[in-house]
Amino acid sequence: MDVEAEKRRAAARALEAVQPGMRLGLGTGSTARHFVDLLAERVRGGLDIVGVPTSEATKRQAEELGVPLTTLDETPELDLTVDGADEIGPDLALIKGGGGALLREKIVAAASARMIVIADQSKLVPVLGAFPLPIEVMPFGLAATQIAIEKALAAVDCVGPCALRRGKDGHAFVTDGGHFILDAKLGRIPAPQAVGQALSVIPGVVEHGLFIGMADTAILAGPDGIKSIERA
Ligand code: A5P
Repeated sequence: MDVEAEKRRAAARALEAVQPGMRLGLGTGSTARHFVDLLAERVRGGLDIVGVPTSEATKRQAEELGVPLTTLDETPELDLTVDGADEIGPDLALIKGGGGALLREKIVAAASARMIVIADQSKLVPVLGAFPLPIEVMPFGLAATQIAIEKALAAVDCVGPCALRRGKDGHAFVTDGGHFILDAKLGRIPAPQAVGQALSVIPGVVEHGLFIGMADTAILAGPDGIKSIERA
């Protein structure tokens, strides 16, 4: 089975957790895209839900497919968010933001009573960090913020180059919130909590891609079927 089929199977399994009347956070990325696609089929069949998209891309997809949308201002408390991840580590700590939507993804997940992460099984890792950690930063003072980030990471024994993310046009990638992203190639993040705390207090850092204690369930699809992991 190819990876896209695995992602879709994970999305289909997560859809089983959706109940009529739910207020849903709609994730971003190729796996979440399958979920929105399948959700739209159920909506067309009469399922009554409302969704809050975590990016402009997901908003466009949901609108095109006729999924009813709201905002966190209108609906500040959600029942369930279903989203993808770049890495899923011990205790369901995640790296997210490969698609650049980490800020809205984290706000929406934090407003949700439950978060289900969907992925192909290659995303499950024994230690986070092989995937570069996205750090969303203010464009103002970029060089100074980068130096502060590198020092803070070194202080928690995580060393590696930070690179400004660029788009296909070579220009700096700009998030939906108008910010830049620094991708920190750390290799290993043995203590995600300490890294997250160190980054959170740096002026100029808007958000980082470590999602700790947020995911309740991971649904992972592989060639041998689907496995579900609950956070202890
Ligand atoms: C978007 O910013 C990310 O957090 C995605 O959820 C993550 O990159 C997973 O994307 P895929 O499902 O495309 O791998």
